[in-house]
Amino acid sequence: MPIQTTPKIWHNGKLIPWEQANIHVMSHVVHYGSSVFEGIRCYGQPQGSAIFRLPEHMQRLLDSAKIYRIVVPYTLDELCAAVVDTVEANGVAPCYIRPIVLRGYGEIGVSPKGSPIEVYIANFRWGKYVAGTGGADVCVSSWTRLAPNTMPTLAKAGANYMNSQLIHMEAEVNGYSEGIALDVAGQVSEGSGENIFLVRNGVIYTPLLGNSALSGITRDSVITIARHLGYTVSEQPIPREMLYIADEVFFTGSAAEVSPIRSIDRIVIGDGKPGPITKKIADEFFGIASGLKADRFGWLTPVKVNATEAPKA
Ligand SMILES: Cc1ncc(COP(=O)(O)O)c(C=O)c1O
Repeated sequence: MPIQTTPKIWHNGKLIPWEQANIHVMSHVVHYGSSVFEGIRCYGQPQGSAIFRLPEHMQRLLDSAKIYRIVVPYTLDELCAAVVDTVEANGVAPCYIRPIVLRGYGEIGVSPKGSPIEVYIANFRWGKYVAGTGGADVCVSSWTRLAPNTMPTLAKAGANYMNSQLIHMEAEVNGYSEGIALDVAGQVSEGSGENIFLVRNGVIYTPLLGNSALSGITRDSVITIARHLGYTVSEQPIPREMLYIADEVFFTGSAAEVSPIRSIDRIVIGDGKPGPITKKIADEFFGIASGLKADRFGWLTPVKVNATEAPKA
């Protein structure tokens, strides 16, 4: 879907026109993938709108930058305030927010020394991410996720998404809506842009972060919600075949939200419909995000923008 542009993008402390937020083709990031970024949703509320887990996302951005020795010249509070300013200046909600820190135009050698750090924040409308009504039909990818000691998966870095593109494109050309990657040891890792959960005999399982998975903010939200609802959640290595015999499987992510999976490699999961535990967790997640249920975990940052879509019940 083409990006639905908004009037302004935040760049290094100033709101500039969308069409002026350009970089030079010789910027370090273009050649070497040297960026770290975030993806955040802002949800419509009965009154106004609210950004979901803003400080946690911006802290992860700073953590990703730290792993790559990128010194971000803004504090966590300044970055959070910049996101709120951008969303309020554009007046678009619900929306998806994309902060990015990149190494800009300066040096062309692999060493990033001498390339300036540029910070941008954009927001725009973005709908459902994982295709499939009533559940997605997905596959296990022939591409594995990044091996330890190659690219750090706790950093949400632009370069990691070359691997995600391989996983996603392979799934798409074979008629699936998404691919699930295994880690280098053959255990379940995550989707190309989502964490994964499965349910078996009433217990919820998700891979460890050590299985080359991103430390998803939605993953954390779902674990918190599930435990609050009284479920046992086990973070553990998951063999591939456990996916096929699960009662329920679902993806989580800021873009993907809570997305049920209907089949994996054409093997139907459970009875092929979103399962009761997935539904309970999704209801709680969307209820909190859209302001219809109490923000009991303190996850919402209100913004002064009237939403143009009614919150989902
Ligand atoms: C590879 C990958 N894993 C997991 C996730 C889910 O993370 P979050 O819930 O923080 O969006 C994402 C999305 O950001 C992702 O790109």
